Amino acid sequence: MLKDVASLIIKHTAPSRRHLTPELVLRLVTPSCPLWTAKEDQVPFKDPFWAFYWPGGQATARYILDNEEIIKNKRVLDIGCGCGAGSIAAAKMQAKRVVGNDIDLYAVIATKINSQLNNVAIETSTDNFIGAKCEEFDTILIGDMFYDEEFANILFEWLISLTASGKTVLIGDPGRHGLTKKRRQHITLLAKYRLPEESCMENYGFTETALWKLN
Ligand SMILES: C[S@@+](CC[C@H](N)C(=O)[O-])C[C@H]1O[C@@H](n2cnc3c(N)ncnc32)[C@H](O)[C@@H]1O
Repeated sequence: MLKDVASLIIKHTAPSRRHLTPELVLRLVTPSCPLWTAKEDQVPFKDPFWAFYWPGGQATARYILDNEEIIKNKRVLDIGCGCGAGSIAAAKMQAKRVVGNDIDLYAVIATKINSQLNNVAIETSTDNFIGAKCEEFDTILIGDMFYDEEFANILFEWLISLTASGKTVLIGDPGRHGLTKKRRQHITLLAKYRLPEESCMENYGFTETALWKLN
């Protein structure tokens, strides 16, 4: 079953470096893939978020790759890892432990495939950590998860509780509506990036992305 999932992911994606972190090669659905122009009923995956490298995830991985000290020797949990770029960047920058987490099995398999492509070892999990104390982690990565208002409410409250217990929470986000003005009062901007052209095409309306730290 897992082998079948991996084969299907490899069949429908292509290795890409056309993003903010070209030092990472990631299997994604690119304009060269038939799925890029496929109609919804031709797509063999339900909501394949993992097949794209979201602006928030790109900011998270870019920042980590440029700022080793924020991740070195840390135990890192990448919530909603998607294609796995945040996890891979953390492993490359010498995190002590990295868990790529996504409730979508396809995402964690894509993360495994991409971690092997980049020669790093990471653990994966499909558990739902939202609400958990995460005692075994120091740093939580959140790449582009503020796209849904209802989920944003639950997510942000949980993240606040994690910082209160001493964890570092890094949020990559291009300005999604769930990261409201009120919530932005609780976060500090660490870096802003211009998105490459191909990412702008995929993310109509966003030309920039940013990395924030929860206060
Ligand atoms: C917009 S994608 C972002 C993926 C990746 N972080 C990036 O920036 O490229 C959001 C991801 O969150 C995952 N997700 C949604 N709810 C989740 C939850 N409660 N726990 C873990 N992952 C979740 C989705 O399956 C999806 O892969």
